[in-house]
Amino acid sequence: MEDNQYMKNKIQSNRLFMKSAFADDEFESDQQKQLPQPPLTKAASSNNITKLTMDFSSVIRETDYLTLIQQRKSHRVYKNESISLDQLSFLLWTTQGIKEIRGNNYATIRPVPSGGARHSFETYLAVLNVEGLEKGIYHYLPMEHSIEFIAKVDNMENIISDSLCEQKFAAKSAVVFYYSAVPYRSEWRYLTESHKVMLIDAGHVMQNLYLSCGAIGCGTCAIAAFNQEIADNLLKLDGKEEFVIYAAPVGAV
Ligand SMILES: Cc1cc2nc3c(=O)[nH]c(=O)nc-3n(C[C@H](O)[C@H](O)[C@H](O)COP(=O)(O)O)c2cc1C
Repeated sequence: MEDNQYMKNKIQSNRLFMKSAFADDEFESDQQKQLPQPPLTKAASSNNITKLTMDFSSVIRETDYLTLIQQRKSHRVYKNESISLDQLSFLLWTTQGIKEIRGNNYATIRPVPSGGARHSFETYLAVLNVEGLEKGIYHYLPMEHSIEFIAKVDNMENIISDSLCEQKFAAKSAVVFYYSAVPYRSEWRYLTESHKVMLIDAGHVMQNLYLSCGAIGCGTCAIAAFNQEIADNLLKLDGKEEFVIYAAPVGAV
């Protein structure tokens, strides 16, 4: 009975979270208090950096817009083959690359929209089978369009599967994308309204990943069923100022 009441209260509060409270916000944001803006992206933490190409001419196979939309679907079976570094580069750029920096480092403009151009996400990769890359965890550096190597992981297939609530198909992909949120990037401006906006933003990123995969002969599947603690530990995130919010395996199909 108590559990039942707890669940009902939780559902009510989650429904409230879905509603807009922008008009009622009575608090002053850190931006309004003129506190410094947090960095637009997370800095590199290693020197092991691989520069990625911006020349995508060799990887694109399908450019017909209606075909891409028509064929978009979730793929949970992947060919047992590698994807190329240039394909990975294409997927990173079309989901989180930087097209322009506005103002004096005020905002980034990317291939996806984001509330207030806050772009509060970081992209991590669990690389299993990408040509030219050692197996392990990588972090995308969108300002430089590069990836940095973070760590080698023993039994990475098992940990990937554990991190995604035993969805074993993910560990048979070529690479698993994990998206983290750095909430303060958005809270600085939108306070309590930022969290819903960030989750809405995540959908834009994923849709671009689906369509971009379709353009290069790959497939993906959005994953929201993940184990927070295992996923955060895998990527060495503190779970407070940065934590995983979404994942997606990618492979040739
Ligand atoms: C937010 C979100 C979370 C999802 N989480 C999972 C997941 O954890 N595991 C999974 O196999 N599919 C997951 N999916 C994929 C959906 O099951 C899939 O989009 C849906 O069945 C429709 O199929 P389609 O994408 O092929 O059109 C998720 C999709 C979205 C948008």
